[in-house]
Amino acid sequence: MATLAEKAPPHGIDPALMIDFDFYDDKLYTTAGGIPEAMVQLRDLAPDAFWSTALGGYWVIQGFEAIVDAAKRTDLFSSTKMGIPERPEDAQMTQAAPLNYDPPDHAALRSPLNKVFTPSQMYRRVDQIRDLAIELIENVAHQGRADFFETVTERLPVLIFIDLMGLDRADFKTYRTIATAGISSTDMQERIDAGRDARRLVGQCIRERRAEPKDDLITYITQMEVNGKPVDDELALSYCILLFFAGLDTVANAMAFCMRYLAMDQQLQQRLRDQPEKIPHAMEELLRRHAVAPVMRTIMKDETWRGFNMRAGDMALLNYPAANIDERVFQHGDKVDIDRERINHIAFGAGVHRCAGRHLARIEIVVLLEEVLKRMGTFRLDPEREVTMRGGSVLSIGALPLVWDTV
Ligand code: HEM
Repeated sequence: MATLAEKAPPHGIDPALMIDFDFYDDKLYTTAGGIPEAMVQLRDLAPDAFWSTALGGYWVIQGFEAIVDAAKRTDLFSSTKMGIPERPEDAQMTQAAPLNYDPPDHAALRSPLNKVFTPSQMYRRVDQIRDLAIELIENVAHQGRADFFETVTERLPVLIFIDLMGLDRADFKTYRTIATAGISSTDMQERIDAGRDARRLVGQCIRERRAEPKDDLITYITQMEVNGKPVDDELALSYCILLFFAGLDTVANAMAFCMRYLAMDQQLQQRLRDQPEKIPHAMEELLRRHAVAPVMRTIMKDETWRGFNMRAGDMALLNYPAANIDERVFQHGDKVDIDRERINHIAFGAGVHRCAGRHLARIEIVVLLEEVLKRMGTFRLDPEREVTMRGGSVLSIGALPLVWDTV
């Protein structure tokens, strides 16, 4: 990563705030020793916002107050177009509902999802989540070492999500391949192809559920009403596509980053083993430090916003992972401190688009931590193997090799 002070600044931006940052493929992630570590460097370079010269140029908003403001200013930061860099005209894309809609249209589209993703509806799945967590952990606990991503954190939330949607567990690998290509491939054509594959696969499920309803989320979506009208196939597809990409990658990676942190902090592990009642609070703090979903916006009009000259058509990345370590809000923000009293983090976003799946994600992460700490001895990063990471619209872990004391 290099500051490009020598180049002519776009929109009269301060050259010191021009940074060559490609969020899919930044060298900074490796040179800093990992994505969470790279976020500290980005935060320190530009506490509120900068202009990235990569990927055709885009704003990166990352101060806590600035990002909350941007998330609320839907008249200036629109969600209707999210591609950075812009996709070619002929790349057929499905607008994701309700993600790609701004107020006032967004509320009616979001409302039926809120009814199924309530804390109590999600908590009804806790036994299923716990049983699966125990099974996956017990499969590897006696080994004393494993790629914990491949064996546990990738499988737990993805299998739960497959069941919730009514997809087929036998197609686990296919779903994961499509989701990871669509979310974090550095090749735009691969991302476009993954979107097409997801549409084909999910479209087929929608047709099947219309013909033969079941007790699952895809059936619920085909039977929903928006503004008093039944959802047609195109709208059902736009909901299901969003859920497909939102549900198949986020929690798996959030869990993996939390486990990586704990693997590097044995004292914290021991404290949570001794005081398991602190695990839900620790989960919030671990999530604050490891937000995995930066999100994209399009600037709708020319405006000088918080001193930055925005122009209609500019793209922006709301970099939640850096906002969550803003020192002005969280002292020693890069440290996980479970004694922090107020953890008003924005790992799940802010404003009207705040994550619909957050209650499910929280339950899954708490259950995983509870069962890991109960069933595995002190764990560490495997000194002989590397933790691999990828950028993209979900910050990801490719492999999480751990070693631990068998109990
Ligand atoms: C730790 C896991 C997760 C994280 C960090 C996360 C993060 C986010 C963020 C930052 C947004 C805001 C998007 C924006 O403003 O453009 C969002 C929206 C959303 N998320 Fe999640 N998410 C997670 C898990 C899930 C899961 C498991 C599901 C579904 C099963 C889900 C479904 C959604 C939906 C439907 C939206 C769109 C809401 C709207 O536009 O109104 N998420 N998520």
